[in-house]
Amino acid sequence: MRLTPARSISGRLRLPGDKSISHRAALIAALADGVSEISNFSTAVDCASTVTCLRQLGVSVEHKHNKLIFAGSQKLITPRRPLDCGNSGSTLRILAGVLAGHDLTAQLTGDESLSSRPMRRIIEPLELMGAKIEATNGKAPLTIQGSDRLAPIIYKLPVASAQVKSAILFAGLHAEGETTVIETSPSRDHTERLFNGFGVPVTTNPDLSVTVAGPARFRGGAITIPGDASSAAYFVAAAMLLPESRLTIEGAGLNPTRAAFLSVLSSWGGSISTTGLQTERNEPFGTIEVHGGISGAASEAERTLSRSIIPSLIDELPLLAVAGSQIAGGIRIRDAAELRLKESDRLAATASNLRAMGAEVEEFDDGLWVSGPTQLQGALIDSHGDHRIAMAFAVAALLAKGETEIAGAECVGISFPEFFTLLESLAKR
Ligand code: S3P
Repeated sequence: MRLTPARSISGRLRLPGDKSISHRAALIAALADGVSEISNFSTAVDCASTVTCLRQLGVSVEHKHNKLIFAGSQKLITPRRPLDCGNSGSTLRILAGVLAGHDLTAQLTGDESLSSRPMRRIIEPLELMGAKIEATNGKAPLTIQGSDRLAPIIYKLPVASAQVKSAILFAGLHAEGETTVIETSPSRDHTERLFNGFGVPVTTNPDLSVTVAGPARFRGGAITIPGDASSAAYFVAAAMLLPESRLTIEGAGLNPTRAAFLSVLSSWGGSISTTGLQTERNEPFGTIEVHGGISGAASEAERTLSRSIIPSLIDELPLLAVAGSQIAGGIRIRDAAELRLKESDRLAATASNLRAMGAEVEEFDDGLWVSGPTQLQGALIDSHGDHRIAMAFAVAALLAKGETEIAGAECVGISFPEFFTLLESLAKR
């Protein structure tokens, strides 16, 4: 993919449904009593992987008038073939929690990237609850032998991970008694919100623990998935960094555990506002407006992203590193070693691509320092097959002098197949 610089990112848009919420809504609809209808389901390949796996488990899902309709009240069956989770960590890890609570055996597989990612983080708690899981060196493929009578646990997460928290909560539906997950830093809370929205109470306690009481079943129903907050982030950052921009995004997910990038970009001098807040099954959404340009100087504290805010920015950090290269004084990211365990080593990929574009970058075990402001230069970018790297550097390409080529850009389909078409329709040159 070749990209040329832009003068502004201007216009109005609505985004396909949020990827994280879509995975969870599909799993809930598959397990619920009664019919469920999901509108604005994510168009991401990752979410299609979740639906395909559910169909292999005997779940009836119809695609009608842009809605996914789940028949509900069904029993999961032993799949005839391995369940291919593709590139999707959320599919593999959260589905493992679902399977742990069912009396069947299934194998979960993934592509090369997913097969190299750590799975002990779900194997340990799910085995403590009574599931039997085979893996190779703690990695996929995983063979899970579930049980519909799991034991409840109180489990302190060793890493901040919404996928692990969610796997345990889904397994907790099939345990007799209270299952509690304790977090050290708050991660995205879609599972908690949707459990409550579909009739299974989850309590969130001030000590960062969440509790579900089993056995419990969901009540099916309808949901319209809010627009993907992480997809919105690329357009918001591009609009802020191109001074002539005027951008409106309607129906965007504004869950506080996902929308932290908005406050970070505002603290760096962006003119960003949100209006018309509504909720759908406890998930907040609304309109985001961006007026291009950066005003004022951010303090060192505002230019440092570390500690407890990291999980709520986790997927936006490569993009924030790109944006940081335009901020006076540059930015620093720490406590983000988890980024090395995503679809690619996102710290290394971000550092090498920013350097290729002329930025000065220092790489730490758990973060980056990026100098700024820097006039980026068009360059050859390696996406490392990672959708978030490809999209972050598409934004960088709009700011650069000269043409940029992103190798392997087709990987954006993993989360956002419409990305380049939408970007081109909003870019004014
Ligand atoms: C996700 C959680 C995050 C995030 C991923 C989606 C989810 O991963 O990076 O893109 O849907 O729960 P971790 O759970 O590994 O932090």
